[in-house]
Amino acid sequence: MSKKILILGGDGMLGHDLVAAFSDYQLTTWSSTDLDITNGVAVRAKVTALKPDIIINAAAYTNVDGAEKEKDLATTVNGTAVAYLADIAHQLAIPLVHFSTDYVFEGTDKHGYIEDAATKPVNAYGHSKEVGEKLLQERHDKFYLIRTSWLYGKAPQKGKPRGLNFVETMLSLAQQGREIKVVNDQFGKPTFTHDLAQATRKLVEDQAPFGIYHLVNEGVCSWYDFAKKIFEIKGIDVNLHPIGSKDYPLPTPRSKYSILINTKTEQLRSWEKALRDYLKQ
Ligand SMILES: NC(=O)c1ccc[n+]([C@@H]2O[C@H](COP(=O)([O-])OP(=O)(O)OC[C@H]3O[C@@H](n4cnc5c(N)ncnc54)[C@H](OP(=O)(O)O)[C@@H]3O)[C@@H](O)[C@H]2O)c1
Repeated sequence: MSKKILILGGDGMLGHDLVAAFSDYQLTTWSSTDLDITNGVAVRAKVTALKPDIIINAAAYTNVDGAEKEKDLATTVNGTAVAYLADIAHQLAIPLVHFSTDYVFEGTDKHGYIEDAATKPVNAYGHSKEVGEKLLQERHDKFYLIRTSWLYGKAPQKGKPRGLNFVETMLSLAQQGREIKVVNDQFGKPTFTHDLAQATRKLVEDQAPFGIYHLVNEGVCSWYDFAKKIFEIKGIDVNLHPIGSKDYPLPTPRSKYSILINTKTEQLRSWEKALRDYLKQ
C-alpha cells in the first residue's frame, strides 16, 4: 500500500505540479476552501481524522506587494499556520514538507546563499516566510524546509489570471507589440514548478535527511536575461530593453542577489533547459 499524502495549497501554481508528481500515491488534496490553514482547530481536527503519512504544504500568502499592506494576514498564513501544521505533524510523528523563499535572505551577497546562511528579509513577505521557517524548526524535527525562487508553472498563481507568471506576462506583452523594459540588476535562478515538484518527490522517496534544502533550476540570470531567453526560444522578434531597478520602482524592496545555492542534494537541470521544456508544452 502506497503512503497517504496530504497536499495543502493544491490549487496553487506549485500545488498543481505537486499533485501531478505524487499522483500514484494515496493522495488527498485540500485547497483553501477545504481547509483554511490559519484555523488551528480545523487543522488539528481534519488532519487527525485523515491520518496522513506525510503532509506537503504549498499553501501560502504569496503576493509580495500585498504583504506590505496586509502584514498581519501574510504572517498568519506564512507564519502562525505553519506552527499549526508543525504541531500536528509532530503529534502524528510524520514528515512535513514546507516551501519557503529566496526572499528570506537580504540578497546583498553576489555569491548567493547556502542552506544554513543567516536569514535577513528585506520585505514583509520575506519576513512572514522567515517566521514560518523559524516556527517549523522550533516545533518539529521531521521536516523538509525547501527554499526556492522565481517560480513559473502552467497553473495559476493566487491573485493572477490563469498561468500569468513572468514567462506568460512577457509573451503577452510581446503579442501586444509593445516596447518591453526589464530590469537587469536583480539576479536569481528561475525555477519551473514541474522540476521543483519532481525534486520534492525525490527528496521524500530517498528519505533524505530532514532539514533545509535549496531546490532551484541551476544557473544565474537577471530578469532581463530571463526575458531575452524566452523570446530567443520562441523565435519572437521583440523590442526588449534592459533597465535598472531604479527606473522601475516597485512598492516593495526586492533582493538584488536572489541566489540560492544547493549544496545538499542533486542539482536540478539548468534554467534554460527547463524553460525550453515549459515553452514546448
Ligand atoms: N511564486 C514564486 O515565485 C515563489 C518563489 C519562492 C517561493 N515560493 C513559495 O512556493 C510556495 C508555492 O507558491 P505558489 O507560487 O505556487 O503559490 P500560489 O500559486 O499563490 O498558491 C498558494 C495557494 O495557497 C492557498 N492559500 C492561501 N491562503 C490559504 C489559507 N489560509 N489556507 C489554505 N490555503 C491557502 C491559495 O488558495 P486560495 O487561492 O484559494 O486562497 C493558493 O492556492 C509558497 O510557499 C511560496 O511562498 C514561491
